Amino acid sequence: MTAEYKVHGDVALITLNNPPVNGLGYETRVGITRGLEQAEADPAVKAIVVTGAGKAFSGGADIKEFGSPKAYQDPNLLSVILALENASKPVVAAIHSVCMGGGLELALGCHYRLAAPGCKVALPEVKLGLIPGAGGTQRLPRVLGVEAALNMIVSGEPVASERLAGLPGQKLFDQLAASPASLLDEALALARKVAAQQAGGSVLPRVRDLPCRHPQGDAYFQFARNMVKGMAKNFPAPAKCVDAVEAATRMKFDQGLAFEREIFINLMQTPECRALRHVFAAERAASKIPDVPEDQPARKIEQVAVIGAGTMGGGIAMNFLNAGLPVKILEMKPEALERGLATIRKNYEAQVKKGKLKPEVLEQRLALLSTTLSYGDIRDADLVIEAVFEEMGVKQKVFETLDQTMKPGAILATNTSTLDVDKIASFTKRPQDVVGMHFFSPANVMKLLEVVRGGKTAKDLLATVMQLAKKIKKTAVVSGVCDGFIGNRMIEQYSRQAGFLLEEGATPEQVDKAIERFGFAMGPFRMGDLAGNDIGWAIRKRRYVEQPGMKYSKTADLLCEMGRFGQKTGAGWYDYQAGKRDAIPSELVNKMISEHRQAQGITPRKISDEEIVQRLVFSLVNEAAHILEEGIASKASDIDMVYLTGYGFPLWRGGPMQYADTVGLFNVAQAMKRFARNPQDDAAFWQPAPLLARLAAEGKTFN
Ligand code: NAI
Repeated sequence: MTAEYKVHGDVALITLNNPPVNGLGYETRVGITRGLEQAEADPAVKAIVVTGAGKAFSGGADIKEFGSPKAYQDPNLLSVILALENASKPVVAAIHSVCMGGGLELALGCHYRLAAPGCKVALPEVKLGLIPGAGGTQRLPRVLGVEAALNMIVSGEPVASERLAGLPGQKLFDQLAASPASLLDEALALARKVAAQQAGGSVLPRVRDLPCRHPQGDAYFQFARNMVKGMAKNFPAPAKCVDAVEAATRMKFDQGLAFEREIFINLMQTPECRALRHVFAAERAASKIPDVPEDQPARKIEQVAVIGAGTMGGGIAMNFLNAGLPVKILEMKPEALERGLATIRKNYEAQVKKGKLKPEVLEQRLALLSTTLSYGDIRDADLVIEAVFEEMGVKQKVFETLDQTMKPGAILATNTSTLDVDKIASFTKRPQDVVGMHFFSPANVMKLLEVVRGGKTAKDLLATVMQLAKKIKKTAVVSGVCDGFIGNRMIEQYSRQAGFLLEEGATPEQVDKAIERFGFAMGPFRMGDLAGNDIGWAIRKRRYVEQPGMKYSKTADLLCEMGRFGQKTGAGWYDYQAGKRDAIPSELVNKMISEHRQAQGITPRKISDEEIVQRLVFSLVNEAAHILEEGIASKASDIDMVYLTGYGFPLWRGGPMQYADTVGLFNVAQAMKRFARNPQDDAAFWQPAPLLARLAAEGKTFN
């Protein structure tokens, strides 16, 4: 049983006990109901207190039950709440630490609520593409007022209990406990007091009986709808939150409850909700590595060193400073250190200007930062991350020196984006201590961290890096060693397709617009102009030598030969006005493309936006299927996380693998066979990867 029952004199205490956050799974629901029955049946019991053991009152639905029929098996949450509300004896919720989702809805079904200070209170369902489905949209406005409740429901963000307790006229909390430690005693005392009141003839208060009104309802809900439309255009749930709360003001309680339920069930079936629930689970799954036990002891990381104060080194250092860890940056020359330091300071100052950082915090962070030109000064660091030039010779010298100087057990990480991590590890006598930590630019902003696991990387090291990633608020995904790791290996196929599309008749603008309408933050050509088209050029030049059979469109090379590297040279696929970032379609580039087509004897054809999107996205999917099959990624959901957090893939589509699952793998494979017949395209590439072909044939999915 995951809810305990105990009697304290004349008060029964029901304690939810389903670690880690007392999720309201089937067993817990049964436990609460049984406890309630016992308390009702015991004449010595005059009142009931419901609370949570450990680190939460309740975090809401049990994620272990997510999407399974068990989540709705009777007693379902609605009936548990109804049972509490209809209890003949007063029920007091003693709330602390975390009270979210179904947990808050449960508390709202109790007659009285007592909260400890410092408790996080939320209805976060909207973040999973849903609305609260157990009365939250009907009861919360009755205790907090329509506006405060709708803000919480639409944002899903937690609010501190003491803030809520301070809202004028609020009825969410009857009392705020003096401290978490005294919560239980105060709850028992409150229970006895209200039991005495009941004995004196007073009726048990129920939230459902409170009025729910807004003085300017029409105007307010119109305003709320407009706000929500602007903020969440690709997600249906936020607008439905407004509908449900409005219903609370216009319908009878039970009617409103049914209305809420209907919305909830309909949302559950939407692709957006499925995508968001997938992402929720994928994020948690990413930190689990199949052959590394969850209780694997980790190494201690108290001091960090970064080698190289360039674009990446500075951003990487900021992550650790933000998490309160001291960082020492090593460079070759004092000028490089000064430049790097100035950039870090400038980045922090920009945050202060925007009001995102307090000036004193800026100083605290910079106080944790020090610099050096000597390896002797970083010898005691627990983790060193190398971010020097992308040349094997340079990396070799750095890793040989690190091997000679660093203390035993120190983690030696490289931020390389293209080089072989096993080769880098081989420059040391401790390859088990070497790992890739592939940050994305700007490293202090981008959420993604690819953790590149070498052939010999130790398990405890991996466990350490995954833990550390959480501390610096990154989404870490493990990748095996291969060219480009997960993300860049896939993006290369996507870029190739973008090139073929130009040759066949599309313009850069058409391609970008189509994929941006699909939801990517930026199309491939605008992206190229931002990152620098010379980077891809360098990679292709290498490919022409190493893989002469690989087919590319020449347009990108011709562009670079014109010196159009992108925003940094003032011109790329697009024209740019001095000091501005707006991409202006370029006549010169379009002329170059059309001359190239002529030279190749290609008659341009009209390409639909649908074909553009499919070729770009399915190229990612096919390469990803190879990556999965080779074991470079251990699960499809990891690939989705890489694309959602590092490459601007639209969140509401759940990542490339989830999207392919939604389209249906059979349809995806069919489309690939069609693309293979395009004369300009790479027919060999479009052979569906064996894993994809198999899943498509069996009617299965990646996720
Ligand atoms: P960068 O050229 O901006 O910075 C490199 C820094 O390393 C320079 O400040 C240089 O003085 C310093 N350096 C070079 N050799 C050194 C040595 N032997 N000892 C100490 N310092 C040395 O380069 P960036 O862009 O920061 O790239 C660094 C690494 O990060 C490369 O491996 C790159 O592939 C990788 N990377 C770059 C990304 C990007 O978008 N720029 C993204 C992800 C990874």
